[in-house]
Amino acid sequence: MATEGKTIRCRAAVAWKPGEVLSVEEVEIAPPKAHEVRIKVVASGVCHTDWAYLHGAGKGMELRPFPLVLGHEGAGVVESVGADVTRFSPGDKVIPLFLPQCGECECCLSPKTNLCKANWAKTQQGVLADGTSRITCKGQQVFQFLGVSSFAEYTVTLETNLTKIHPDAVLERVCLLGCGVATGYGAAVNVAKVEKGSVCVVFGLGAVGLAAVMGCVGAGAARVIGVDVNPDKFSRAREFGVSDCVNPRDHGRPVQDVLVDMTAGGADYALECVGDVDVMRSALESCRSAWGVCVIVGWTELEEMKLRPFHLLMGRTLKGTYFGGWKSVTDIPRLVEQHLAGQLKLDEFVTHTLTLGEVNHAFQLLAGGKSIRSIIKM
Ligand SMILES: NC(=O)c1ccc[n+]([C@@H]2O[C@H](COP(=O)([O-])OP(=O)(O)OC[C@H]3O[C@@H](n4cnc5c(N)ncnc54)[C@H](O)[C@@H]3O)[C@@H](O)[C@H]2O)c1
Ligand SMILES: [Zn+2]
Ligand SMILES: [Zn+2]
Repeated sequence: MATEGKTIRCRAAVAWKPGEVLSVEEVEIAPPKAHEVRIKVVASGVCHTDWAYLHGAGKGMELRPFPLVLGHEGAGVVESVGADVTRFSPGDKVIPLFLPQCGECECCLSPKTNLCKANWAKTQQGVLADGTSRITCKGQQVFQFLGVSSFAEYTVTLETNLTKIHPDAVLERVCLLGCGVATGYGAAVNVAKVEKGSVCVVFGLGAVGLAAVMGCVGAGAARVIGVDVNPDKFSRAREFGVSDCVNPRDHGRPVQDVLVDMTAGGADYALECVGDVDVMRSALESCRSAWGVCVIVGWTELEEMKLRPFHLLMGRTLKGTYFGGWKSVTDIPRLVEQHLAGQLKLDEFVTHTLTLGEVNHAFQLLAGGKSIRSIIKM
C-alpha cells in the first residue's frame, strides 16, 4: 500500500470530554510499531458500552482517559503491518478485538476461560503495549478505547487483539461479531450452557439480549421469555424466537414473581442483558431453585448488586461473562463462517446504517430505544 510506513491523515469521532457529544475531526494515525497492525476500518457497530463509557464515566463506569476515540465493534482490512507481524498481510479482512488472545498466558492455556490478560492494564487505559496510542489530533495524544477505536477511518491494534476472517465476509455485518452479537450468543451457549427443552428468560432485548435469545433458541430451549421495559422491542424479539414478552411496568409486583408464576417455579436459565443491578437481582430470583443458572452480561463496574445468599443456598448459580466466553482470535472467525453458512443471524440486528458524521445520532437512537444496532459505514 502507498501509505505503508507513513502517517495517515483521516477522520475519527473524538470524545474530548465525558458526557459531551463526539466531534468528527481530522486525526493522524501513526504507522504500526512492532507486533502491531494498521487497519482501514470499513464499518463499526455502536454498542451500549461505547455510550456507557461516555455518559456513565465515573458513575457506573470507571473514568477512562480522555480525549478518546470510542468504537470497539469494528471490521476492516489490513493496510500495513509492523515489524515481527507474521499472521497478517495487507488486504486481509479482519475484526479488531477488545479482548486479546495471546495464546501464551495462563488464561489462554486454560480451557476454563477466555480472559487473556496480555497488555490488559494498558489497553484498558487506552494505550498499546508501549504505553502510547497511535492516534493524535491537534497535537494531542488521543486514547484508544479498549485498544481498538473503531469510530475512525483507520486504527492500529496489537496483533494479539486482531483476528483474520473469511475473505467472503461482509464487513458491514460481521463487525457485530466484534462485540454485541458474539457476547449475547456466547453467554447462552458457552456460559449458561442452555440445554434442549429448557425454559430461559432474557432481560433486555437490545442487540446483546437478542443474540442471547438466538443462543437459547439454537440450543433447543422449549421456551424463551423476553423481558423489556420498552414494548417496541417485542416484535423483533418474537421474530428471534421469544415465545412470551413481559414488560415489568405492566405488573404491580416484582417481575421475578411474575416470571416464577409463568414458569411454575422459575426459569432454568436467566440472562441479564441490561446492565442494571436491580435487574441483575430480578434475573437471579427468576431462576428456579435447585439448578437455575443466572448469567450477568450487562455491564457495570462501580455499582453494587444486592442479593440474598438464600437464593444461592437453594442451589442457584450466579455467573458473569466477558465477550460471551469466546477465545477471541480462534473463535470469532468460526462465528463468521457460521454466519456465511446461514447458521447465525446478523442482518436481523441492523436497524440503521449511518455515516461517521452521524455517530451522535446513532447514540441518540440507542439511548432512546429506537435502534438495535446502527452500523457506521466509514
Ligand atoms: N459482558 C460483556 O462482555 C458485554 C459486551 C457487550 C455489551 N455488554 C453490555 O450489555 C448490555 C446490553 O447492551 P446492548 O448494546 O444490547 O444495549 P441496548 O441499549 O441496545 O439494550 C438494552 C435493553 O435493555 C432494556 N432495558 C432497560 N432497562 C430495563 C429494565 N429495567 N428491565 C428490562 N429491560 C430493560 C432497554 O429497553 C433495551 O432494550 C449493556 O450493559 C452493555 O454494556 C456487555
Ligand atoms: Zn493470553
Ligand atoms: Zn460492546
